[in-house]
Amino acid sequence: MQIEVISLFPEMFAALSDHGVTGRAKQRGLYQLTLTNPRQYTQDVHQSVDDRPYGGGPGMVMLAEPLSRAIADCKARLQLHGVTPKVIHLSPRGTPLTHEKVLALSALPGLVLLASRYEGVDQRLLDTQVDEEISIGDYVLSGGELPAMVLLDAMIRQLPGALGDADSAQEDSFVNGLLDYPHYTRPEEFAGLKVPEVLLSGHHEKIRQWRLQQSLWLTRAKRPDLLAARPLTKEEARLLQDATLQQRDV
Ligand code: ADE
Repeated sequence: MQIEVISLFPEMFAALSDHGVTGRAKQRGLYQLTLTNPRQYTQDVHQSVDDRPYGGGPGMVMLAEPLSRAIADCKARLQLHGVTPKVIHLSPRGTPLTHEKVLALSALPGLVLLASRYEGVDQRLLDTQVDEEISIGDYVLSGGELPAMVLLDAMIRQLPGALGDADSAQEDSFVNGLLDYPHYTRPEEFAGLKVPEVLLSGHHEKIRQWRLQQSLWLTRAKRPDLLAARPLTKEEARLLQDATLQQRDV
């Protein structure tokens, strides 16, 4: 996957490209990341990327022209690989990001992400050059860099071969519309709390049912909206009702 990112702070993206799962995936060639600083596309001596808003008010607005030239170059590079990419702007005004959206984007051959700063971007740039706006939540960050990295991290872990254990992305929260079940490792007792016995039983079917039940209970307690959004299988309905097992405090 070919990823183009436009940002005034390209060095921030080392956090993504140089560490952990996303760093290893890059080393393995699962994605290429090209960073473009719109300052390189300015044509005045001050290398201005922003100006005061028409109509007055606080803050600065990012200029359409340097961003437009930067986007054109990113698109041209991807077109050399036969890819006509979507241009996505990270913005609190965008559509909230979901697991389904992450899966859809991670299946694309290429993408241009625009991480903006200041109070906003000239609306004409958004109207003419941006295909989609995505928000990572109902709060405002100082710029689109962290949201772009959040989106990219979520996408990259879905690329085939990105995770050591092929199953771990399948077991994540949200994959089946439920929150992840609790995990335990050694020692068998910590802070007076024992590992649930079923996990030590070696009985794979019972472990599967216990984990599914924990996921159901956790989701009902913490995110009832997720449970309401999907039909329950017969097994899930039974496990959700079943009071014979101890329910953890959540
Ligand atoms: N830029 C600033 N805040 C943001 C948010 N919540 N989501 C996406 N981009 C943003």
